[in-house]
Amino acid sequence: MQNVFVFDHPLIQHKVSLLRDKNTSAKEFRELVAEISVLMCYEVTRDIPLKEIELETPVGFARTKVISGKKLAIVPILRAGLGMADGFLQLMPMARVGHIGIYRDNKTLQPIEYYCKLPTDIDERDVILLDPMLATGGSACDAVKFIKKRNVKNIKFMCLIASETGVARLHAEHPDVSIYCAAVDEKLNDHGYIIPGLGDAGDRLFGTK
Ligand code: PRP
Ligand code: URA
Repeated sequence: MQNVFVFDHPLIQHKVSLLRDKNTSAKEFRELVAEISVLMCYEVTRDIPLKEIELETPVGFARTKVISGKKLAIVPILRAGLGMADGFLQLMPMARVGHIGIYRDNKTLQPIEYYCKLPTDIDERDVILLDPMLATGGSACDAVKFIKKRNVKNIKFMCLIASETGVARLHAEHPDVSIYCAAVDEKLNDHGYIIPGLGDAGDRLFGTK
């Protein structure tokens, strides 16, 4: 699969297995999503450019490296994407945060947008979209469309579990958007849930079912 990066780090894989377990409580689920997001943030930011600076240590001068290049914004897709934002911000506290509210209609599975608030200078930033699940791909494609309307050139999509269908759709509609995930599951059921997946990510995060 083009443009899809599956993080195979053992810690990520182990924690995703715990997430999948139906006996994992909402508290544990939230903690695990945050921990996995920290680990995925570490992986997804590998290509951030660095520049050399000089600074004074307590005992001398050092030529050393700091992050440079374009600024970053993360955009969680509400609701479930919120669970990934804090983990990300632990490592990248300087990132700006936009929010896009989208839910999937239960019957049609079509994405319905209800909120969008993005940083005013988002066109000057690289964007990482966050959502635990890429199922039919409808929500992700809509979110990417919103962000592209604001002239953002570099968008990455990061999720925990993707389906083959979702990957294919996002790739077909937005081939420039790279997908980062911990697993690509085989299929969707008749209700658009990823199988085996982890169930409804929003409900499991927030205990709404
Ligand atoms: C879930 C998930 C994605 C979407 C994926 O959100 O967090 O946003 O479904 O499905 P898709 O790829 O078929 O569009 P949901 O609609 O359950 O909303 P919620 O996060 O508010 O619970
Ligand atoms: N949304 C979820 O939360 N889980 C799925 O499996 C599919 C869509």
